[in-house]
Amino acid sequence: MDKFGWCILGTGSITFKVAPELLKNENSYIVSCWNRTHEKAVLFSNKFGGTAYENIDECLKRDDIDCVYVAVTNDVHYKFALKAIEYGKNVLLEKPFTINKKETIDLINKAKENNVYLSEAMWTWYNDTAIKTKENISKIGNIKSAKLTFGFPIKSLSKKGRLWDIERGGGALLDLGVYPIRYAYELFGMPKSIEATASLYKGIDKYDEIIFKYDNFVCIIKTCIDRIVSEYVYVKGEKGEIKVPFFHQAHKTILKTEKKQIFKYKGLLYQKQFKVVEDEIKSGLSESNYLTHKSTIDVMELLDKIRNIIGVKYPQD
Ligand SMILES: NC(=O)c1ccc[n+]([C@@H]2O[C@H](COP(=O)([O-])OP(=O)(O)OC[C@H]3O[C@@H](n4cnc5c(N)ncnc54)[C@H](OP(=O)(O)O)[C@@H]3O)[C@@H](O)[C@H]2O)c1
Repeated sequence: MDKFGWCILGTGSITFKVAPELLKNENSYIVSCWNRTHEKAVLFSNKFGGTAYENIDECLKRDDIDCVYVAVTNDVHYKFALKAIEYGKNVLLEKPFTINKKETIDLINKAKENNVYLSEAMWTWYNDTAIKTKENISKIGNIKSAKLTFGFPIKSLSKKGRLWDIERGGGALLDLGVYPIRYAYELFGMPKSIEATASLYKGIDKYDEIIFKYDNFVCIIKTCIDRIVSEYVYVKGEKGEIKVPFFHQAHKTILKTEKKQIFKYKGLLYQKQFKVVEDEIKSGLSESNYLTHKSTIDVMELLDKIRNIIGVKYPQD
């Protein structure tokens, strides 16, 4: 089988988690990596292979790169994904895809112009648990209510990290909220209207309560970076209910109708995402069948609309 070479842009904490899983795919290997602080790229390449470049252009120029995984902070997703696209490279871009819908549409258009594959690293939706949940939602009949929550404290206010900084695309909604927002979108589609409230801190949202209104039910979404909230998807229907505990990294979906069924997923967290992307690129696709360009644009539109209601504005807007 043909080997599949990855280039990594930004070797921050997430790349140290995903790389061991990426390397479990038998054809995959790391060709090159680049990081703003070069020492971290060296650490990464010592651990996972490939060449650590100080010069990003040299890093991207390699013709043995099959896909670039972009994992810099949210504020510069657009900039670095665009750079890779302009080098004619396929791109897997971390979530939130970009800061706003305008940047997302622009990036997708640039990928089309350059004839390259572009997809979003919303790994939950490459995995079987989320897909099984979506496939089975109709079994609970007409939806009566839905609740999704996801949040945990990320660094104290005194030790500010990227999530507490508006300049670096911080805030709960874009970083953690994107998971329940994507989940609600996948299960129920675009809401008819949205209500939202948030607690803000220096321009970023640290706690959000969002209501998606559909024709016959409402979906309540909570997300935060300042406290613990339990993590689950819970949907009640006329004929039963569906529950997904710890939904963003879930290994099971519980469906209760007349009987109780549990769908279990035994895979790792990130491995399948990288395998799907590899297979889709090899088969000549320009977007993923798992996360279509339209779905990414729709989710960014929802995030823009919520931000507009709660009053969070980024320099890129
Ligand atoms: N899929 C997931 O499960 C998951 C989980 C966590 C995060 N993420 C996403 O992954 C991305 C990175 O998150 P992380 O937790 O790994 O963050 P992190 O540990 O803070 O790393 C951030 C990375 O971005 C680089 N960076 C920051 N600003 C930059 C700039 N202006 N120009 C170039 N590089 C810059 C940093 O370089 P330096 O080393 O030089 O600072 C570092 O490599 C975020 O978009 C986040 O939303 C995804």
